[in-house]
Amino acid sequence: MDPETDGGRITPIIAIREVSRFYRRGVDEVHALDNVSLHVDPGHFVAFMGPSGSGKSTLLNLVSGIDRPSAGDVYVVGQKLNDLSEDELADWRARHIGLIFQFFNLMPVLNARDNVALPLLLTRLDRSERLRRAETALHIVGLDERLDHYPRTLSGGEQQRVAIARAIVTDPDLIVADEPTGDLDARNAEAILSLLRQLKNDFGKTIVMVTHDPRALRFVDQAYHLDKGILLEGEDAERAHEAILLAAGGHSTAARTGA
Ligand SMILES: Nc1ncnc2c1ncn2[C@@H]1O[C@H](COP(=O)(O)OP(=O)(O)OP(=O)(O)O)[C@@H](O)[C@H]1O
Ligand SMILES: [Mg+2]
Repeated sequence: MDPETDGGRITPIIAIREVSRFYRRGVDEVHALDNVSLHVDPGHFVAFMGPSGSGKSTLLNLVSGIDRPSAGDVYVVGQKLNDLSEDELADWRARHIGLIFQFFNLMPVLNARDNVALPLLLTRLDRSERLRRAETALHIVGLDERLDHYPRTLSGGEQQRVAIARAIVTDPDLIVADEPTGDLDARNAEAILSLLRQLKNDFGKTIVMVTHDPRALRFVDQAYHLDKGILLEGEDAERAHEAILLAAGGHSTAARTGA
């Protein structure tokens, strides 16, 4: 999608306004997210970072319409997600979001081409067109030579490439990835981060990624830091950012903090 302009200002593709997500656990209430506000501009590659249990996946699931907030508003691709029913959300997700997971989630009984073509079953395209588009997506992720391979015959890095091809085959407005490098070795992790960056650079895709990976700071435009359900801002965000940079060995072209 082209960035929409509003009197010269870019309209964010994601706007999270004072969003909280509480869970009941026995008599306790877990504050998975507490009054979080942020926005993401179209064509940006953004990371959500923070310790385990800080609310990263919760936030990502709200952005992709997998979950709903306890309070606050979630706007994505011009749609207020709070207003949609379960069925409408599923339909909206199929049209606008490409999902990438830590453990690839490929169908073991399907080859790479058929795995990538799966999301197109929800469209009116005929089978030959679905397979043609799957091949194009596999070409983009550099897997022309692996079209007929089954997941068990692919390396972890290759399986994640297939999963990325599956996420882009519908030409979604937004790519959402939860720890896409979490199950990969260092070399494959860099290659996947570089591929995501390429989708942003070459196709203007907006990408929101949860990650623990300090290397990610070299590839993203912006990093938001969460801690115990709170979005860190100002000096707290700077401190969290510096700590990750230090872990990554520092880098002058690293992303700025989001808050
Ligand atoms: N369905 C649920 N029911 C109850 N509590 C939940 C549920 N989902 C998440 N939580 C709690 O909300 C908090 C945030 O969880 P979340 O999965 O967003 O963390 P995270 O930052 O993604 O962590 P990790 O890095 O370990 O994946 C945690 O305390 C978690 O236990
Ligand atoms: Mg998580």
